[in-house]
Amino acid sequence: MLPMSSQQSELMRLLLPVADGIKRTRETIAAQLSGTSPAVRDMVEHIGRFQGKQLRAALVLLCGDATSNSTDEHSSIAAVVEMIHLATLVHDDVLDGAEVRRRVACVNQRWDNQTAVLLGDFLYARAFALSTDLSSRMCSRVLAEATRRICVGEIQQAASRYDFEMTQERYEWIAGAKTATLYAAACELGARYPSGHDEQGARMRQFGWELGLAFQIIDDCLDLTATQQEVGKSVGTDVEDGKVTLPVLWAYARADESTRAAIRDIYTRTEAGDRVGDLRRRCRVLEGVEYARHRADELIHSALDRVRELPPSAARASLENIAGFVLERSW
Ligand code: IPE
Ligand code: IPE
Ligand code: MG
Ligand code: MG
Repeated sequence: MLPMSSQQSELMRLLLPVADGIKRTRETIAAQLSGTSPAVRDMVEHIGRFQGKQLRAALVLLCGDATSNSTDEHSSIAAVVEMIHLATLVHDDVLDGAEVRRRVACVNQRWDNQTAVLLGDFLYARAFALSTDLSSRMCSRVLAEATRRICVGEIQQAASRYDFEMTQERYEWIAGAKTATLYAAACELGARYPSGHDEQGARMRQFGWELGLAFQIIDDCLDLTATQQEVGKSVGTDVEDGKVTLPVLWAYARADESTRAAIRDIYTRTEAGDRVGDLRRRCRVLEGVEYARHRADELIHSALDRVRELPPSAARASLENIAGFVLERSW
């Protein structure tokens, strides 16, 4: 395992109220992914070398605790959610041609695209196998629907490459579908599983949606402003792949015609070069980043209002702190 960054240890402190549950979740994931062929074992070992944030797993556990709805099965739900997340990352890195994930080479780089597609499928299969072992079908139902929406989000994103006229509404629809969906499902399951609790389920689902959408908006900002060293994954890939994210949409909408042509050229020219650097020099994309951060801030405020309707508890405080972390993070 690679050494921990200061942001990682800060996050671990925020997640302390569910530290035991997260430990059980990690053990469950390890058990689900063990006992396979040596080739798969190598890959599982590789992707486990650096711990992700485990935010979605933590949200299942924290939303359970904050709504007094936790069961013995919540750590298994958290494991299912985290394995689905991992599968989406392995596939997403193929789609994005990314090189580094969690500070190590992406599966598509260390092996190849074919292998990464199959490993992602393997992870989905293990995740859904575990969910069908649970006593209620709610987990399978909610996460099958979430997975469908994530795929639609990724497909719509691919269909919208180089679309500089995209509305903010459509950008948020795509960012929400591909990322906020799993946050919303994690929070809903935490608050509702195994049955009933429709009202608190709907409230926590909305909390997760706003948190997840803010998370993706910040991620899109970091893709333009952070270094690979800071975030531990490839940066600049959005511009490289023709993804027009909120900061760029904002700058493009406010640019004159020659600047717009320059932005389009930076995205589409065949010679690679420093596309993000050129974008930052050529247009007001950093003001676009400010605008996008403001939008993320709005979403986080709305998410906080929802969680503050719950009775005070350590878990609720942790949810509030996570909301703050999502805005401040540089990892
Ligand atoms: C990365 O999610 C994918 C996005 C939705 C932007 P995380 O940043 O939560 O990934 P890990 O699990 O910490 O690596
Ligand atoms: C998130 O989008 C994709 C998933 C939901 C898996 P990104 O493409 O921005 O995620 P990163 O930046 O590669 O982690
Ligand atoms: Mg990506
Ligand atoms: Mg990204």
